[in-house]
Amino acid sequence: MKPHVRGVASSATLEINEISNALRASGKTVYKLGLGQSPFPVPERVVRSLKAHAGEKDYLAVRGLPELRQAVADYHNRQSDLDYKRDDILIAPGSKELLYILQLVFDGVILLPSPSWVTYAPQAHLFGNRVVWIETRAESNWKLSPDDLEAACRAHDGPKLLLLNYPCNPTGYSYDADELHDLAAVMRRHRLTVLSDEIYGELHHHGEHVCLATAYPEGAIVSAGLSKWCGAGGWRLGTFAFAPGLRDLLDAMAVVASETFTATSAPIQYAAVTAYERGDEIDRYVMDSRRVLRALATPIVSRLAEAGAILNMPDGAFYLFPTLEQHRDSFGSAGVLTSTDLCTRLLEETGVATLPGYAFGRPAAELSLRIAYVDFDGATALSAASRLEDLDDSFVYAYCADVATAVERMAQWVESIRGR
Ligand SMILES: Cc1ncc(COP(=O)(O)O)c(C=O)c1O
Repeated sequence: MKPHVRGVASSATLEINEISNALRASGKTVYKLGLGQSPFPVPERVVRSLKAHAGEKDYLAVRGLPELRQAVADYHNRQSDLDYKRDDILIAPGSKELLYILQLVFDGVILLPSPSWVTYAPQAHLFGNRVVWIETRAESNWKLSPDDLEAACRAHDGPKLLLLNYPCNPTGYSYDADELHDLAAVMRRHRLTVLSDEIYGELHHHGEHVCLATAYPEGAIVSAGLSKWCGAGGWRLGTFAFAPGLRDLLDAMAVVASETFTATSAPIQYAAVTAYERGDEIDRYVMDSRRVLRALATPIVSRLAEAGAILNMPDGAFYLFPTLEQHRDSFGSAGVLTSTDLCTRLLEETGVATLPGYAFGRPAAELSLRIAYVDFDGATALSAASRLEDLDDSFVYAYCADVATAVERMAQWVESIRGR
């Protein structure tokens, strides 16, 4: 029997996690900088709310609990001065599920900046959707340029869906209001539908995230959820906020939802209302999460740059996407010819697990890789951060020691290859 779905490998992020677990089980020390999971615990208030709603056992409305849809609309409106209504919101068990259903119902070409999150292209392939990659460059922090977007739009007729993600997984870079304004001019000219994946928006390190709906209200679907800023990836709750003119897409997605997952877990939706209502305790949690991530990125970026990698300080999330392209000759002599070689050798020789740039749509031979700097005890780090005014390098060595060690090992490994 031939399965209906063929030619799509399982997710690269999950695979590296399994290899790392196997190495650990065999007694080797592995630094897990592969899987991009929030290191922080779910805020206490939200956990209490989940406990209080454990008895909620009924199926809820397909599009989501009305109170939650209202809370999500209010949240976006508060954060970004927008005007979403409850009926513009769709809730699902994870934004990944929503992205998948969107790709099912959208009839057109998928535009993807390279690099992009590992899942977008495989989801497109599952439905046989055509993917057009748009090149970006390390020198401009891997950001999509209006000119390159314009060229891609001109080259492809018909309806197009751009998947834009910022702060970006895998790079950590983001777009400011001016950059979004310039991109929006192109989006408008070509009447693009844009899925703006803002799941890391709350983890902008300076709290300066700008929602695409402020620059391109007519064509944006804003994707978010509890997984990253609320540390609740395993709870599975994602949200889409639709521009009023995209109601047909929302309705089509709701039909698919009704025939697949039915509704998102009831207790989780009730707890999510508490999360989206925020309040001082949760605001403080988010601010401290940002401070910890920013403090941690600083010594990592400077140490890797010193070792010869090209990267800058990220704007948000917990990722870095260094490239070692300029040392191709040295790496080539050491038998490292692709990003997969790079990550495999790094894992074998230093115990540091990362992901190859290839998994994010980069050419196989480009020596780029993604680091997720999350291998630390987020609960302890957060509680220490809440007591400290300044988080300097000594904080990093005290509370994120494994990440610091992993980066030092990586840097020394790169230096040894360059010095060979
Ligand atoms: C860019 C991006 N979008 C979406 C997701 C999926 O998140 P969720 O847990 O809401 O399915 C992730 C998770 O890693 C992500 O990195």
